Amino acid sequence: MNEYFMESEREAARLHLKDDVGEAEKQIKAAGLLSVADNAVILDVGTGVGVCSQAAVNVFGSSKKTGCVISLDRSFTRVIFSKSQIRTTVKRRIRRSRLCADAFMLPVKDNSVDFIVCRFLLEYLPDYMAVIRECKRVLKPGGILSIGDLDCNCLIHYPISELMEKQLLQISSVLTRLKLWDPFMGRKLYAAFCRAGMVNNTVTVCAHHVFAGRFPDNHLQNWRYKLEAVKRLAVQHRLTLGFSIEKFAASFIALLKNNQRFSYTPLIIVVGRKKHD
Ligand SMILES: C[S@@+](CC[C@H](N)C(=O)[O-])C[C@H]1O[C@@H](n2cnc3c(N)ncnc32)[C@H](O)[C@@H]1O
Repeated sequence: MNEYFMESEREAARLHLKDDVGEAEKQIKAAGLLSVADNAVILDVGTGVGVCSQAAVNVFGSSKKTGCVISLDRSFTRVIFSKSQIRTTVKRRIRRSRLCADAFMLPVKDNSVDFIVCRFLLEYLPDYMAVIRECKRVLKPGGILSIGDLDCNCLIHYPISELMEKQLLQISSVLTRLKLWDPFMGRKLYAAFCRAGMVNNTVTVCAHHVFAGRFPDNHLQNWRYKLEAVKRLAVQHRLTLGFSIEKFAASFIALLKNNQRFSYTPLIIVVGRKKHD
């Protein structure tokens, strides 16, 4: 079982800060959710606070078809939080279900799911191929798998001092070495789909974050949470980075507050189908 390094009692609040159901709706539509037949089973793996589940309810609900959206996360707190978040306007046609379970062992029958969405989970997993294979196992033949992860996650900011860029890369490579996080997960998805034997694989690259000028308050708060997670980790794993995380965090927040700074993060979404026998 993997350690989720962002885990804290405030993780639901952090995820809620940056949720954008409208963007998730566009992504899910582009992945072909509307092409799925009536009476569909839709699974959101690593749902967090249920952003993709809400998007699936909205998009599939608008098609007048019936179906079931299952929100799955290993965190009981967030599964409950996602319940309170989901609006129920199309409740009668779209059933909702929640599962507190591990993505490595989905408590779902083989060949039973029509559409799987999995966003911002694989970057936290030591063995992402195992989860892709598990998703493939539960998909029906012809079923759709849509996985989205960031590339160069948290790393692209300009102007940034040489020292701060070096320290940022150092933190990110320590997390990668500990197998807690992969900032380059996005670029690995297409090859992973091919290796798993998924077919008709397509790739979309879009901007997840584009921040030119004033950094929005909710995203600033999100960064504070991320820096707190790194501080906790440094204590837990007794990391010796050779510099003070406290000082780094303060300088990094100052960098984000510089209105002449430009930051962006590419999101890579790969969509494929399970082959018919
Ligand atoms: C960044 S959040 C996902 C956000 C959400 N998918 C979205 O698009 O907004 C990552 C989630 O994955 C969950 N998670 C981490 N490891 C997991 C595992 N092995 N099985 C299931 N969920 C896991 C965490 O509890 C967390 O809620």
